[in-house]
Amino acid sequence: MKRLPTGPTDEPDRMNEPVGSRDESRYEPDIKKEYANDQIVVTWEPEYCIHAADCLNGLPAVFDPWRRPWVAVDAASADEIAEVVMRCPTGALHFQRLDGGDQEPEPEDPTVQLRPNGPLFVRGKIRIEDASGHLIREDTRVALCRCGGSGNKPFCDGTHRTIGFRSGPSRSSGS
Ligand code: SF4
Ligand code: FES
Repeated sequence: MKRLPTGPTDEPDRMNEPVGSRDESRYEPDIKKEYANDQIVVTWEPEYCIHAADCLNGLPAVFDPWRRPWVAVDAASADEIAEVVMRCPTGALHFQRLDGGDQEPEPEDPTVQLRPNGPLFVRGKIRIEDASGHLIREDTRVALCRCGGSGNKPFCDGTHRTIGFRSGPSRSSGS
């Protein structure tokens, strides 16, 4: 019997990959900034920041983009800073407590929030891989592009604003 040709597939061919490389993040941001005192370290990865301003609105004395350094960890308590850092929807901001305070909890249930005319805010235990199974990012908060215009896919980079992306009416469950 004649065999049908196999068509193109989206399945990754992992047979030829060096095993050790599969869990290396290929998209580590070049720049990761740290702001610290003896109670808390705040890290900021500008590559993921879309200037959603949750941090500025939450604690303007700590997060001030017109000041250098723009994060002043001595301007509020470590508890207050940690609470606002966890509001950052993109994962650009993280913290580590050095004073025995609670570290960021890992959400048990994943959620995807459709932002009007904007990205998908995903929270949970998130692992993003490329088609070959290589780790792109592990995080508890990410903003994923749904306008198609981001220069940092799969992450939102704020381009939806400049191209006037409109998400249209969303379907909601129930009546
Ligand atoms: S909340 Fe996060 S994404 Fe928004 S401006 Fe602050 S660091 Fe950037
Ligand atoms: S949704 Fe923000 S760049 Fe696409």
